[in-house]
Amino acid sequence: MTGKKAVAVILGVLILAASFFGTARLGKDQILPAFCQTEIKNGEKQMKKVALTFDDGPDPEYTQELLDGLKARDVRATFFVLGKQAKQYPKLTEQIAKEGHLIGCHGYEHVNLKSLSMEEACRQMTRTADLICGITGSRPMFMRPPYGKSHEGMEEKVQMIEVLWDIDTMDWSLRDPDRVVQETLAKVEDGSIILMHDEFQESVDGALQLIDALKKQNYQFVTVDELILE
Ligand code: NI
Repeated sequence: MTGKKAVAVILGVLILAASFFGTARLGKDQILPAFCQTEIKNGEKQMKKVALTFDDGPDPEYTQELLDGLKARDVRATFFVLGKQAKQYPKLTEQIAKEGHLIGCHGYEHVNLKSLSMEEACRQMTRTADLICGITGSRPMFMRPPYGKSHEGMEEKVQMIEVLWDIDTMDWSLRDPDRVVQETLAKVEDGSIILMHDEFQESVDGALQLIDALKKQNYQFVTVDELILE
């Protein structure tokens, strides 16, 4: 997976550079010895991490409410958007990125990529990436194929890292926030990637309840790049 490694290295360098400049800026305002900052970083590492991911949006009815709930809780999540939805709702797409969430590609239409040729499947992702880049100014580096099914070797061709999940909340079929929360809490662990959808009221309610419950268990919410590239 040379492509994946190259992407990881580039991102790593960017993250290092960002943390260097962040530290330098902090140093101007505060006289804080370097060892103190190291201690803070170690403390952060001990927290359990989880990534909430939302597929199939942005949705004109429910994404806004979800974004408001995430902002109120100071939580960052990952949105695997559909190209056709992003095209129809560019302002929502832009808002997702502006509010610090990570955007990945879920394809242009919601189609099983296995039913398409390699070229058509890649086009689903690159067309979506081009569109998102045009809206947010930043090209997505992660993709999640619908149903978790893609062609072997697609990652290298489209220059994106595939991200699946370890917890499927089944929010779209349960349509019951309490059950989504209970069943997820029974399975969640440090490093979990949780699959949800921002296209139902019950999913938004369930996601926000889940955040409140996980915070009580000392979970920290990160975007998938922080888990994958660690
Ligand atoms: Ni989907």
